[in-house]
Amino acid sequence: MTQLSSQLQKEYVQLKSEIERYSRLYYVEDNPGISDAEFDQLFDRLLEIEKQYPELVTSDSPSQRVGVTPSAKFRPVKHRIPMLSLQKVTSAEEFAEFDLRVSKGLETEDDIEYAIEPKLDGLAVELVYENGLLVTGSTRGDGHTGENITPNLRTIRSIPLRLSDEAAQKYPLLEVRGEVIIRRSDFEKLNHRLEREGLVPLANPRNGAAGSLRQLDPSITASRPLIFYAYGISETDLNNIATQTEAMTWLRSEGFRINEHLATANGPAEVETQFEQLEEFRPDLDYEIDGMVIKVNRFTDQNILGQIARAPRWAVAWKFAAETAETILEDVEFSVGRTGVVTPVAKLKPVRVGGVTVSNASLHNEDQLKQLDMRKGDTVVIRRAGDVIPEVVEVIIEKRPSRAQKIRFPSQCPSCSEPIVRSEGDAAWRCLNIACPAQVEARLFHFSSKPGFDIEGLGGKLAAQLIDTGLVSDPADLFFLTKEQLLPLERIADTKAQNLLDNIRRSRQIELPRLLYALGIIGVGESVAELLAAEFGIFEAIESASIETIEAVDGIGPVIARNIVNYLSQKATRKMIIKLRGGGVEFAPYTTASQTGSLDGKTFVITGKLSQPRNYFKQLIEKAGGKVTGTISAKTDYLLCGTDAGSKLTKATKLGVAIIDEQQLADLLPN
Ligand code: IVH
Repeated sequence: MTQLSSQLQKEYVQLKSEIERYSRLYYVEDNPGISDAEFDQLFDRLLEIEKQYPELVTSDSPSQRVGVTPSAKFRPVKHRIPMLSLQKVTSAEEFAEFDLRVSKGLETEDDIEYAIEPKLDGLAVELVYENGLLVTGSTRGDGHTGENITPNLRTIRSIPLRLSDEAAQKYPLLEVRGEVIIRRSDFEKLNHRLEREGLVPLANPRNGAAGSLRQLDPSITASRPLIFYAYGISETDLNNIATQTEAMTWLRSEGFRINEHLATANGPAEVETQFEQLEEFRPDLDYEIDGMVIKVNRFTDQNILGQIARAPRWAVAWKFAAETAETILEDVEFSVGRTGVVTPVAKLKPVRVGGVTVSNASLHNEDQLKQLDMRKGDTVVIRRAGDVIPEVVEVIIEKRPSRAQKIRFPSQCPSCSEPIVRSEGDAAWRCLNIACPAQVEARLFHFSSKPGFDIEGLGGKLAAQLIDTGLVSDPADLFFLTKEQLLPLERIADTKAQNLLDNIRRSRQIELPRLLYALGIIGVGESVAELLAAEFGIFEAIESASIETIEAVDGIGPVIARNIVNYLSQKATRKMIIKLRGGGVEFAPYTTASQTGSLDGKTFVITGKLSQPRNYFKQLIEKAGGKVTGTISAKTDYLLCGTDAGSKLTKATKLGVAIIDEQQLADLLPN
């Protein structure tokens, strides 16, 4: 190895910071300070030095943005603080109701100050900085656990790899959240490029961003024009930063890109005006937005308001009205869902609406079909809002061709041919045969879907095969499958079978909300499952709860409460639960990072040499509700003890205070 001169070392440090500065001008401020050629020269010099002195290379070097080898799979990452979603409103009236709830919550009659932001339509990610260095980047996932996509996020130039020294010192642990997007113009260019290369073009910028981030090979991500917009920090108790607006300004000073259209508004009337303005200039933006996010500006107020099941009480998404388009109805098919409901599905001539190509739309039920008086060949108006299934809202009668064919609702189940029934007061026709293959398949699909057991590789085709061959008749059968049973199936080779079995095995440790969701009880979606889990903690408690106790849970009504009790008391359900347990499924009790109270009221003293500055551990403890003091007394609960500890350790031993190391502290903390 060549001896490293101090002059060279200085040059290297300077190069690093110069490159980061120019990158920032280019990627964050859209204002390149130097020509591309000059930039390349600097970069080449950096690489040259690094090649000669590999020991110099640190994770924050601009050269480290690319060049990591592909991984086989993304690892899960628990978010220290859950990534919540947002309540939605769609009109000024609904926003006024939100505003009223906020005013009541804050016990004030003054206008509330809101921070206003465009709601970017991309992919939410979290960046974790420890001692100023970017250590982990992840997707939102289910809000509690996401996927570790650090190498991919590192390739995005608008994400700082390092924060200022001042930030590192003040906030040894900091999470920054935001949205990764692709600009419309970049998206067009990217699709042209993909087409030229004979690859499949991306459906829309949002899918493009999500797909690009979830590449196992970060060099593919690096070739995609991704941009990160920061929109928040997970902390609201930062010194000197008292509002969302200030947090954004601070993020900007730390090198993050923040949106150009941030604003504040006092009271609902001002918010409404701003919403109208945003709606007006939406078409001129070079990126897609689907509404406006409105946040109570003061962090202290946010903390007072708190959160409901999955969303904060201090913020709301005001969504734009759905987009509509005209197309031709080519046919109507009837599909059978997991609860036996027979739903008419419109088969449409493909049309673009709201940024995606739509060829199916829900027609809800017989009444709607009749009310729309729809015929094959009709021109129809369809509407699509956000991620919801598009729907047909209108038939343009004037455009009806002369021989348009009427549509008849079937009298038999399209899957099992049993007669279907529609009872008094119910809008739906139902197939009552719980063994109906379409139902079993849909239940299996729901069971293994992402918010449920999250079993990758169990797509529609395979699910159908498992059912047709009789290998699976209820979801619990999955846990008894063997490779020998899978191999004879069509298109299932050894690796695929093994992967599926591995994924099934891995899913057996399931958190309570996911389990509850997976069961597919009518009315129990993700948020009700979360409410139930938070209230009862363990499955057995829900099993033995009465309708009244369940109904008493804030957010759960009598109909759902009855559904839950009915479902859980059925013989078939009890049998399936026993079978699930027999198959090795463990129903984990409910814990979430939002239940930060795990160290509530506990007092800590920190001593000795630790792997991180003391302040780091102090923050961790305080966030979990604990207190850190300087002296050991009989009231101290724990001594967090590193190496080379002195008198504090002696005193703690004398007083019988529990002595723990870093690992044991980690075990005490909510995950
Ligand atoms: S704040 C607790 N701000 O909207 C607050 N979210 O339902 C949570 N989004 O997928 C998010 N732009 O990624 C916030 N300016 C913005 C946003 C924004 C887009 C997305 C977010 C999440 C969804 C929230």
